[in-house]
Amino acid sequence: MKRQLPRVREFAPLMRFKRPALNRKRRRLQAALTIGDLRRIARRRTPKAAFDYTDGGAEKEISLARARQAFSDVEFNPQILRDVSTVDIGCSVLDRPSQLPFAIAPTGFTRLMHAEGEVAGASAAGAAGIPFSLSTMGTTSIEDVGAANPDGRNWFQLYMWKDRDRSMALVDRAAAAGYEALVVTVDVPVAGSRLRDVRNGMTIPPTLTPRTVLNAIPRPAWWFNFLTTEPLAFASLDTWSGTVADLLDTMFDPTVDFDDLAWIKAQWPGKLIVKGIQTVDDAKKVAALGVDALILSNHGGRQLDRAPVPFHLLPRVVREVGDEVEVWLDTGIMSGADIVAAFAHGARFTMIGRAYLYGLMAGGREGVDRTIEILTGQIERTMRLLGARSLAELTPEHVTQLHRLRPLDERCGHYADA
Ligand SMILES: Cc1cc2nc3c(=O)[nH]c(=O)nc-3n(C[C@H](O)[C@H](O)[C@H](O)COP(=O)(O)O)c2cc1C
Repeated sequence: MKRQLPRVREFAPLMRFKRPALNRKRRRLQAALTIGDLRRIARRRTPKAAFDYTDGGAEKEISLARARQAFSDVEFNPQILRDVSTVDIGCSVLDRPSQLPFAIAPTGFTRLMHAEGEVAGASAAGAAGIPFSLSTMGTTSIEDVGAANPDGRNWFQLYMWKDRDRSMALVDRAAAAGYEALVVTVDVPVAGSRLRDVRNGMTIPPTLTPRTVLNAIPRPAWWFNFLTTEPLAFASLDTWSGTVADLLDTMFDPTVDFDDLAWIKAQWPGKLIVKGIQTVDDAKKVAALGVDALILSNHGGRQLDRAPVPFHLLPRVVREVGDEVEVWLDTGIMSGADIVAAFAHGARFTMIGRAYLYGLMAGGREGVDRTIEILTGQIERTMRLLGARSLAELTPEHVTQLHRLRPLDERCGHYADA
């Protein structure tokens, strides 16, 4: 090998020093390439109790782990040599266009994760042309979310409480504020047991103990925001002080049944979505009520542990009721490829919970924008590599669901004749 002295003329063109980004937040967010990266930033910047409340699930967190695993256990079957120079990742949902195939799911206590809370989510959703859902347990009022996303699509998520009049008063406010749809969540007859919250002594509002103060030291931005913005409270409920689980159990009405769902439907003039369907039979019953959409969801693994994996349930539910009602899916989505897989198996729409909240915790509104940007890039790239130019071109042939979990007796459970 013949050596020579390095010549500036030759290596100078290789030297491309990037001008350092002055905006530290932007630099931090741009360095995040996946939702997992945003999660890591979120964890560094958010007090442990708030991060764990968001990140965690119920009991041993098996439902959540399995839902994510099911997406990892996907095999994509690409079709080659197709012109994929342009791809369209918009879709129609509830008879109106959505720029992207997902909405922001309803989440409670959102200003606990970041002071910008629901306003960041709603305005980011509006800018991206996707729907935003506000939870009954939200920390921004129905009207303020409407103002943050004035030209976009806002949906109100309803938990039926013991005090029906007060629940329905919220529904009336959502209708008056121009909300397009009501999302009735049906998988919370009682609160799931979220052990991380119990272990952290998580309360609303957060309690200051020596441990929380110590934990606050490396997270000054969160605390500064927390202490210098409107006190954290529920926008739709009376003030509460106590644990989250106690709050849920005090409020939720475990007697709610199918008749109540039909009654709610009769009260609401707009579109009705039912969230938290976990069996084919229940999907049929809910579809028979004439609702507009149902969401296969186990609440992000926060309610019943070892619940059915929504992605596994999807093909059968689509086969059974897909012609009568829009079948959507949430739980476990951490990448745009997960959304593509869901569409390939017939989902008409998806929702993201934690993926949005990790972005929010990582950087407020800009963090949510980054979540949407990351997912969009992943959806487009996955579709191009699969040879699909639109969501409508995706079919079950594009995605093999690999089975890790099969009942020992194939006649049992929802895989029975899958
Ligand atoms: C922190 C947190 C709070 C939530 N709060 C609510 C809620 O108030 N109402 C509701 O219907 N679902 C709630 N969910 C469930 C989400 O709407 C959604 O079903 C779930 O997050 C989807 O799973 P993923 O987080 O894996 O995307 C919450 C989820 C999280 C992570």
